[in-house]
Amino acid sequence: MDAQFWHQKWKDNEIGFHEADYNPGLTRHFHGLGLPKGSRILVPLCGKTRDIHWLLTQGYKVVGAELSELAVKQLFEALDYSPAVEDTDLGKTYTAPGIQVFVGDIFSVTSHHTGRIDGIYDRAALVALPYEVRIRYAQHLMNLTQQAPQLLITFDYDQSQMDGPPFSVPAEEVKSLYRASYALDCVQDSNIDGGLKSVDSARINVWLLKSAD
Ligand SMILES: C[S@@+](CC[C@H](N)C(=O)[O-])C[C@H]1O[C@@H](n2cnc3c(N)ncnc32)[C@H](O)[C@@H]1O
Repeated sequence: MDAQFWHQKWKDNEIGFHEADYNPGLTRHFHGLGLPKGSRILVPLCGKTRDIHWLLTQGYKVVGAELSELAVKQLFEALDYSPAVEDTDLGKTYTAPGIQVFVGDIFSVTSHHTGRIDGIYDRAALVALPYEVRIRYAQHLMNLTQQAPQLLITFDYDQSQMDGPPFSVPAEEVKSLYRASYALDCVQDSNIDGGLKSVDSARINVWLLKSAD
């Protein structure tokens, strides 16, 4: 999955991953991270997710990163915000009160760009990446945020039945990526009614990752 793959998806409007409503895993479990209002939440690979609306309505500040400028434009249109658009060393940055979104590769984003991050919301980000990239991505997120607590949503299914994305990221893999730095709590493990794309049997897991101290 190179950048071109995702740019083409957005161009062709093949965005089956985009949810019309807030993700129930987010609305049910995000408060379990115990982050106060005003906390700065990183939403990596954010697309134009409506979950950003929810985070903003809950009083959080959002820092997003997304390859596709088309997606970012649509996000701000849906929010009904008129963003300031700036050129930075990364590419473009779209900013409005309470929200800043970097247009570009998450791996180019540094803490110098984001400033302090208090929490992470990962839905359809880790699972959008192939295995080798997931290892690099998890490490990058932890470096970038100094292991800020995160809510992570993953899928678990038989990978031999379908090519990703979304990829299957079973519990053992989540643990191997993050257990050295976080205490992991799987707060939801449920069957996906109707399966996932062409796979009949799939599960969705919601994880709270908090400081291991
Ligand atoms: C499966 S979609 C999920 C979008 C969003 N999280 C949601 O829940 O709707 C993955 C998104 O990540 C973006 N993306 C993929 N690789 C990326 C990268 N290396 N850096 C930033 N964004 C990336 C894609 O353009 C796409 O919008």
